[in-house]
Amino acid sequence: MRLEDRIRDIQDFPQKGVLFKDITPLLQDGATFRAAMERMAAHYTGSGIQTVVGVESRGFIFGAPLAYLLNCGFVPVRKFGKLPAPTESVEYALEYGTNVVEIHKDAVKPGERVLIVDDLLATGGTVSASIELVERLGGHIAGVAFLVELTFLKGREKLKGHDVFALIKY
Ligand code: PRP
Ligand code: MG
Repeated sequence: MRLEDRIRDIQDFPQKGVLFKDITPLLQDGATFRAAMERMAAHYTGSGIQTVVGVESRGFIFGAPLAYLLNCGFVPVRKFGKLPAPTESVEYALEYGTNVVEIHKDAVKPGERVLIVDDLLATGGTVSASIELVERLGGHIAGVAFLVELTFLKGREKLKGHDVFALIKY
């Protein structure tokens, strides 16, 4: 089964000149969604992951089933103002302006082996901020996983020193 066949190109979204990779057809097809999750989980079986961190919002879609398949807990990294208990915050650059992501201070224990998951690696800004959050709590980044990597945006260069895995590369 080719996962790529269920990713759709949308021209000029969210703005002119951008070719958007739409993952909703993949999610919509049960067999393909399951295959994607099982392939991602297979990559980490036996690697001693203790916690999966998913990045709001599309990272939640892949992070929660991955945690379930790997038999470990799930921790959300959320956009500013959504988490109720004390948090760590990191600000990161977007194409226009900045954004803040947060994690609960007690969500990761020092030395815990953490896998960070998001749907897509573009510039790497979002996932770098999430790595910073987990490292501030003393967590060990055991891996960073994506459904899709846009290699031409060179986000991987921002993640030097980390084990980066993507199921699909463009
Ligand atoms: C998208 C995508 C990744 C991020 C990738 O999220 O889901 O999280 O951008 O881009 P980057 O590598 O350049 O940081 P978005 O901020 O659009 O929010 P969403 O997940 O809530 O849709
Ligand atoms: Mg996102």
